[in-house]
Amino acid sequence: MNLQLDPYSTTEKDSADHFRLDILNGLQNTPKKLSSKYFYDKIGDHLFQKIMAMPEYYLTRCELDIFKNKTEELVELLIPQNEPFDLIELGAGDAMKSTYLLEHLINKGSDFTYMPIDISGNILSILNDKLSNQLPDLKITCLEGDYFEMLQKAASLSNRRKVVLFLGSNIGNMTPDEAENFCIHLNQNLSSKDCVLVGFDLKKNPHVILNAYNDPQGITASFNLNLLTRINNELGANFDIDQFQHYQTYDPISGACRSFLVSLSDQQVTIGNNHIAFEEHELIDMEISQKFSPEQIKELGEKSGFITTGEIKDSKKWFVDAIWQVQ
Ligand code: AVJ
Repeated sequence: MNLQLDPYSTTEKDSADHFRLDILNGLQNTPKKLSSKYFYDKIGDHLFQKIMAMPEYYLTRCELDIFKNKTEELVELLIPQNEPFDLIELGAGDAMKSTYLLEHLINKGSDFTYMPIDISGNILSILNDKLSNQLPDLKITCLEGDYFEMLQKAASLSNRRKVVLFLGSNIGNMTPDEAENFCIHLNQNLSSKDCVLVGFDLKKNPHVILNAYNDPQGITASFNLNLLTRINNELGANFDIDQFQHYQTYDPISGACRSFLVSLSDQQVTIGNNHIAFEEHELIDMEISQKFSPEQIKELGEKSGFITTGEIKDSKKWFVDAIWQVQ
């Protein structure tokens, strides 16, 4: 495998320090806040796999429908000239959806290198093994590290046109302001005629959305509570998991689907040398999964300097992959 390591890569100790500081800072906020980017430890990865398999969690099936059944349309929008290019995927994970696109491109004889970017080197090496088995003709360069640092790295490796995938409504984990800053930054890290494909979950019947995040089996609840377990294990804390309860909301006006943990009693939690007091009913703000209207998506693209060149919806019209080009 051609694994490009991040030259600024933080050591394990640095990243543990960063985690500790981030968690302590968040718990000193009002309201208390923990970042959903920390959900994904080993157990968190497993719980997210279970979420993706739940009948209520429609998002994965919708985007899979697009990648499976509208592959040719995707290719026409992403690579209209069929020139050599680099296909970059932000947060590639197991690349379940993009593998359909990779296969199609190979069968078509396209000249491209697949560059998955992920902060987890472990996930990248699993992905590399899987893809070299499944698609032996695929050229792959794994980039381990921060998205923007690795986009710079990709630009330094080749001057081919870049096509960037940011799938799965991962952009929904940012507030609308954060998403705008992210897209502006993305635009600045690309060159003229490069393009990005961003997966957005659309506003729809609010019952459908709330059910996807408020499953009766409580898998989403465990996914949220697992961050407290992770803090206990990695930072020597003593959260009593039974004294916190998951609470999910969806506001169909703003499109914000939010998760919270509610403290069920007056309690004190110790994290290393720090003591954090919780009042009964006090909240921890855990995650936002933002839903969008088609107008909001267009506006976001324009505000961040892109031109919309296409959008592909699934057959239910619940999810959209927007294709934006750098001017
Ligand atoms: C991985 C960010 C797309 O927000 O839908 C699923 C994470 N959280 N259920 C989402 C998640 C609760 C998911 N993303």
